[in-house]
Amino acid sequence: MDQTQQAWEAVAGKYEDESDEILAFALSEQALWPAEREVLAEILAAAPAVVHPQSGDGADDIALARAGARSVLGVDYSPRAVAAAQRRADQAGLPVRYLVGTLPGLPVEDGDYDLVYTGKGALIWMRDLDAWARDLHRVLRPGGHLFIYEGHPAVPLWTWDTDEPRIRPDRSYFTRSFVNDTFPANGAVETQWTLGEIVTTLIRAGFTIRHLAEYAEPFWRWGDLRAAAWEGRLPNAFSLLAER
Ligand SMILES: C[S@@+](CC[C@H](N)C(=O)[O-])C[C@H]1O[C@@H](n2cnc3c(N)ncnc32)[C@H](O)[C@@H]1O
Repeated sequence: MDQTQQAWEAVAGKYEDESDEILAFALSEQALWPAEREVLAEILAAAPAVVHPQSGDGADDIALARAGARSVLGVDYSPRAVAAAQRRADQAGLPVRYLVGTLPGLPVEDGDYDLVYTGKGALIWMRDLDAWARDLHRVLRPGGHLFIYEGHPAVPLWTWDTDEPRIRPDRSYFTRSFVNDTFPANGAVETQWTLGEIVTTLIRAGFTIRHLAEYAEPFWRWGDLRAAAWEGRLPNAFSLLAER
């Protein structure tokens, strides 16, 4: 287990300790952002079989099953996160199951899924984006979709100043990696992919891009913390829909 995986295994302790809160959040309308529901509306209406790589706390999986998915398979390399997410899905009585698995290398058959759902802190852990994109393409049936709702690649540049947005002098949009210095991934080395690299990598893997949008609102807020960079002037999240 490398250092980043150990860090995630430790974070999964939080997923166990705060299980009731996570389940309540998963069952609320907030677990999927309005923009996610909008982009996915037609796809979820067709009761897709969904696979969710890097499923983490599994709140998205419960929300997707409640929003129409016929089944959801979450895959994450943290056995603790997977076990805690499975307990919550069982409590909710939903068709959601989990496997322990490392990406790239989803432990599922080719062409089995209608929708790959991923993001919310997933891409920064991928060191080989081409292999990741090929893997997601492989598990989709022809005509199936990949949906990503993710932190905008520019986010590592923003300071958390409250008076006005500023750019961190120690960061660049174009460096390959940086050390995270905020919770929950404090100390972890994250990989940076520009929006252009993400889009071009997906096209190279065989996807057709159907939708790309950027949002001012971060996909995740740190409690009551507020930064001027999150208040409407800068990009903090993006969504992308691609078709196999
Ligand atoms: C921030 S969470 C992902 C977000 C998830 N949608 C959520 O809201 O919890 C990142 C997850 O990716 C998992 N992860 C990181 N690198 C991975 C890899 N190479 N293979 C599988 N899982 C990985 C971690 O264990 C963690 O649960």
